[in-house]
Amino acid sequence: MQTVTLNNGVEMPVLGFGVYQIPPEQTEQAVTDALAAGYRLLDTAAAYRNEEAVGRAIKSSGIAREDLFVTTKLWVQDPGEDNTKRAFDASLRRLGLDHLDLYLMHQPFGDVYSQWRAMQDLHREGRVKAIGVSNFHPDRLVDLVDHNEVTPAVNQIETHPFFQRTADQAIMRERGVQIESWGPFAEGRNNLFAHPLLSEVAGAHGRSVPQVVLRWLVQRGVVVIPKSVRPDRMAQNLDVFGFELTDDQMARIATLDTGGSLFFDHRDPAMVGRLGRLRVSD
Ligand SMILES: NC(=O)c1ccc[n+]([C@@H]2O[C@H](COP(=O)([O-])OP(=O)(O)OC[C@H]3O[C@@H](n4cnc5c(N)ncnc54)[C@H](OP(=O)(O)O)[C@@H]3O)[C@@H](O)[C@H]2O)c1
Repeated sequence: MQTVTLNNGVEMPVLGFGVYQIPPEQTEQAVTDALAAGYRLLDTAAAYRNEEAVGRAIKSSGIAREDLFVTTKLWVQDPGEDNTKRAFDASLRRLGLDHLDLYLMHQPFGDVYSQWRAMQDLHREGRVKAIGVSNFHPDRLVDLVDHNEVTPAVNQIETHPFFQRTADQAIMRERGVQIESWGPFAEGRNNLFAHPLLSEVAGAHGRSVPQVVLRWLVQRGVVVIPKSVRPDRMAQNLDVFGFELTDDQMARIATLDTGGSLFFDHRDPAMVGRLGRLRVSD
């Protein structure tokens, strides 16, 4: 598997498996299938409520811990450094692991600075190999970078053909922050899987639309974590390294950018309020 080198030297696979919206009772099987297909990066979150099932699949896979790259995320609740460390401990316990590869602050809301200080401590103590953020727009990211010791290794943000984030990616690159896409297929919105332009490019390579989308992201230097509960799709989504899009195809896909979210804007006050009040654990 191709990797990217994060700003602290840690190697991260460029393609992994996301488990958002997989119900806990289906997650163990899905992760077992994904590991069998060859995925080694797993992306979960306390808010997905399926960390325990991810942990069971890791354990029963027999794959050596050092061959896996496990990411989970801190939810916005319970301010303060101690609570952040408690949330980290609880995630590790649910996953059945003694360290994480990547711990992300899930949202740019709440007591962000104390959360980041606690995450810096966890990193310093070697309990997590890299720390990062998610859903940070460039202004918030630069603020966090400029006023803290550790620069986030990763910013996981909505990135797909209809919201391409090229300007954001350039700012992140300047600051040494790796972009990671969530929702690489926009969860199928805007008819992505049957989109005429994407279908035409796919046809030219004898590939599928999802393969073209993942290839386009990887070719841009974006880490991807597609989700599927179907083993045939898991295998297909992993098989994107045997072809290359031309400059012309890259440029044509660039025209699909709408410059906005297909889900919600993390700057929308109503959403900031709603997510900030959401509790995912007691
Ligand atoms: N940080 C954040 O705030 C945040 C937010 C959202 C997501 N994420 C992360 O990013 C990961 C990926 O994003 P996502 O799950 O929202 O959406 P996604 O990967 O863009 O899309 C998943 C959807 O595409 C379908 N699909 C997958 N492969 C396919 C294929 N080859 N052909 C046709 N359909 C296919 C899946 O259906 P089936 O399962 O039925 O195959 C599912 O409905 C998540 O799982 C999560 O780890 C993070």
